[in-house]
Amino acid sequence: MSGILYVIGTGPGSPDQMTPEALKAVADSNAFFGYFPYVDRLNLKPHQRKIASDNREELARARAALELAASGERVCMVSGGDPGVFAMAAAVCEAIEAGPKEWKAIDLVITPGVTAMLAVAARIGAPLGHDFCAISLSDNLKPWDVITRRLRLMAEAGMVMAFYNPISKARPWQLGAAFDILRECLPPTVPVIFGRAAGRPDEAMLVMPLGEADANRADMATCVIVGTAETRIVSRPGKPDLVYSPRFLAGDSK
Ligand SMILES: C[S@@+](CC[C@H](N)C(=O)[O-])C[C@H]1O[C@@H](n2cnc3c(N)ncnc32)[C@H](O)[C@@H]1O
Repeated sequence: MSGILYVIGTGPGSPDQMTPEALKAVADSNAFFGYFPYVDRLNLKPHQRKIASDNREELARARAALELAASGERVCMVSGGDPGVFAMAAAVCEAIEAGPKEWKAIDLVITPGVTAMLAVAARIGAPLGHDFCAISLSDNLKPWDVITRRLRLMAEAGMVMAFYNPISKARPWQLGAAFDILRECLPPTVPVIFGRAAGRPDEAMLVMPLGEADANRADMATCVIVGTAETRIVSRPGKPDLVYSPRFLAGDSK
């Protein structure tokens, strides 16, 4: 008998930003895998088992969850934000592709979640209102020169960029290096948003021009959004500034 594997996201941290579909998957599951701070966000019942693990063990965690689901168990894999954005859904697909044929018969239900860049963008205005991309600055799973090439190409293409995994103790210099590259390609006035812990009690939003953007203002819980030359800042009396990217972009007249 084959069980079921749900792959869900908790949203960025606020319980209000977890989808009803993800909550239903939680209610329907008996065993929960995930990085422990994410699994700890769930209000589990006494019969629901936590099998939390450290952050660097994604593939082993995916395999363990699939093994349990293959034995007939109702299993839930928990990510923060959206499970498909730099998170566990890809690790689960990778494990299924390389794993035994029984794993391909497991019912797999991946539910979308609110990813960090959307939560940050909503807090500050609409910086993702025009074309944008998401880039992980972690060079654990791809070479740094691929990241720098993508940064230059995205800047040239006029895309707003959302940086995930901008900085950590093990990767202290990458965000500063990314700002240096972008300062060569974009005007110094381009707004840079440091969205920290969106949706959590310690949430903090900060906007700086690219010319002065300071990588030390980010930590592991920060999603950094770099605007374009078109991204605008609207001052409002007694209220935080709004940052938005206009929907319309004038083309070259031919
Ligand atoms: C491994 S990625 C996981 C992303 C997650 N799956 C998502 O969809 O948001 C972790 C990165 O997401 C970003 N992040 C996660 N939660 C956040 C939050 N509440 N506020 C701002 N950024 C967050 C940070 O850049 C962090 O380094």
